[in-house]
Amino acid sequence: MERVEIVVDDVRISLLKGRDEDIVYIHCSGGDAELWKYQLEYVGGYAIDLPNHGKSDCIKINSIEDYAYFVAEVIKKLFDKAVVAGHSLGGAIAQKVYLNYKEIVSGLILIGTGARLRVLPELLEGLEKNPSETAKMLAEMSFASRGFVDSFARIFEERAKVLRNDLILCDKFDLLEQYRNGSIKIDVPTLIIVGEKDVLTPVKYSQFFHKHIPNSKLVVISDAGHMVIIEKPEEVSREIKEFIEKIKIKN
Ligand code: COA
Repeated sequence: MERVEIVVDDVRISLLKGRDEDIVYIHCSGGDAELWKYQLEYVGGYAIDLPNHGKSDCIKINSIEDYAYFVAEVIKKLFDKAVVAGHSLGGAIAQKVYLNYKEIVSGLILIGTGARLRVLPELLEGLEKNPSETAKMLAEMSFASRGFVDSFARIFEERAKVLRNDLILCDKFDLLEQYRNGSIKIDVPTLIIVGEKDVLTPVKYSQFFHKHIPNSKLVVISDAGHMVIIEKPEEVSREIKEFIEKIKIKN
């Protein structure tokens, strides 16, 4: 695996790269490209460090659209078109990349995410006032099993500020009504993945996508929570690989 750097408007964006595949992965709130290591190894493609995360530069980001702009510019520099895969916050960004820059998206993968992503007020307040305890609570809510909780509690605590900023953007993200009234029409193949035990973006958010996105497949992964890409990396990667192979055949 190697690091690739792309400069967009003087901002250095760092990506982790597996073998050549036309797919870009976008991480969750407070996350980074490393979270996609298994998918990069098994499927290939590029995982981005969003601005203010991982090894990318820090700048002022005011909205999900701002993140989508940087992702779209990176895609334009790397490919004609790519599959855009996003987890949680990354899934909100992926939807905006599709809606604002349709011409560069060949398929969408929406993992543990939603058309609306309201956030518990206790999380937003707690990350500011009591980061240690709140990071632990969020880590507990993020996984179905205990194994990863302590290490992620530490990561979330270290990154409390950027994590909170991301969650504030998620809280404002709301395309629910536009899907319902038909003003959003997604017409690329879409793979929807969610952990059966996800309490942060429950299965019904993914069922909503499946109902409103015509060419979509819904995969509910058992014994997994919100961090399904980490808890069940093999199953997630298998689904992604199958999905991108089908897209290649069609194109
Ligand atoms: N897809 C489909 N339906 C959705 C949805 C989505 N992405 N987001 C919300 N809804 C539905 C809810 O199910 C609810 O329907 P109901 O009235 O039939 O139960 C309705 O829209 C309103 O829900 P919501 O927008 O969530 O507002 P709320 O005031 O009921 O609840 C929270 C607010 C924060 C308590 C709630 O959103 C929650 O528990 N969120 C998950 C925890 C969290 O912080 N996640 C972080 C995500 S990044």
